[in-house]
Amino acid sequence: MPGAIYAEALVKTFGDVRALDGVDLDVPEGTVLGLLGPNGAGKTTTVRVLTTLLRPDSGRAVVAGIDVLKHPNQVRHSIGLSGQFAAVDEYLTGRENLRMVGQLYQMSGRAARARADELLERFNLAEAADRTAKTYSGGMRRRLDLAAALVVRPPVMFMDEPTTGLDPRNRQALWDVIEELVAGGTTLLLTTQYLEEADRLAHDICVVDHGRVIARGTSDQLKARTGGERVEVVVHAREHITTAREVLTGLGRGETTVEEHTRKLTVPVQGGAKLLAEVIRELDLRGIEIDDIGLRRPTLDDVFISLTGHAAQLTGEGADGAGPPQAGGRGDALMEKEAAQ
Ligand SMILES: Nc1ncnc2c1ncn2[C@@H]1O[C@H](COP(=O)(O)OP(=O)(O)OP(=O)(O)O)[C@@H](O)[C@H]1O
Ligand SMILES: [Mg+2]
Repeated sequence: MPGAIYAEALVKTFGDVRALDGVDLDVPEGTVLGLLGPNGAGKTTTVRVLTTLLRPDSGRAVVAGIDVLKHPNQVRHSIGLSGQFAAVDEYLTGRENLRMVGQLYQMSGRAARARADELLERFNLAEAADRTAKTYSGGMRRRLDLAAALVVRPPVMFMDEPTTGLDPRNRQALWDVIEELVAGGTTLLLTTQYLEEADRLAHDICVVDHGRVIARGTSDQLKARTGGERVEVVVHAREHITTAREVLTGLGRGETTVEEHTRKLTVPVQGGAKLLAEVIRELDLRGIEIDDIGLRRPTLDDVFISLTGHAAQLTGEGADGAGPPQAGGRGDALMEKEAAQ
């Protein structure tokens, strides 16, 4: 049985841009899917198709058990959406915006008022609740938009970059609200550029690029695929970077990356603590002073860079049977198209 959000071979083209090039998704009920990908990968387009705002050229989608293309109106009653760009009525106050949503969804006046008050409190908008949204800062609008998406506690939620532009405290507040919702059975598809957010909230992660899913799995599975641990060294003097790099490349299992301004070098390794000791000995032998050294697991950032940094090769290798490689150059065409907009 398909999950609460299901998509099969979604294709959407805009002129000669293939924004979606065969996207498949299956999100089990009560779980969070994190959709990651670089700018222009097709995240928002996927969300728009699944929320009935955009018709795909081909493919199939089922949300909350309802066929998205055949019964878009029914789907709309079962979902909540917070878009990448906040959609609030500028001329209403924060409180009025939230009450209006409740009324649109046929909540009783009393229930709509209570829910509005609760959400204003949670998103730290209580003080500004009776000012028109026109006077809100960017982060405040974003929070109001998120609160609006949460008024009716829908069984399936879509959030497109919900925490972009939020300060750390409000980001934390949103994470808490999301965790509560999901504990209550809501299914959520979330797009984000903050990998730490996907790490914390998402049960499963799909990485998209050029309109295709290029990798999927749990955060741990994706990290394991990126190769084991990393040794990270901060050398004391900039002139030692070159020698340190030789040492790391000699002992590591892949390319050494260098962050010049922090004098930090990182290399994937095998062999754990023993290998770390060997690195320290070798650096010491060459007279390189170390400010900091450690062994760490790959982060989702490592995953993201290793996947999307080589996206052209990866699409062909079909991380998930993604199919044959695209004719070369499409990535560049996308970039040009975007640059022209
Ligand atoms: N209405 C449209 N008309 C023309 N091209 C579009 C339209 N909507 C999206 N595109 C193109 O489709 C591609 C995917 O866009 P999309 O908005 O889905 O990316 P995204 O992954 O959400 O990116 P971002 O991280 O920047 O939000 C881009 O190349 C974009 O320019
Ligand atoms: Mg987007």
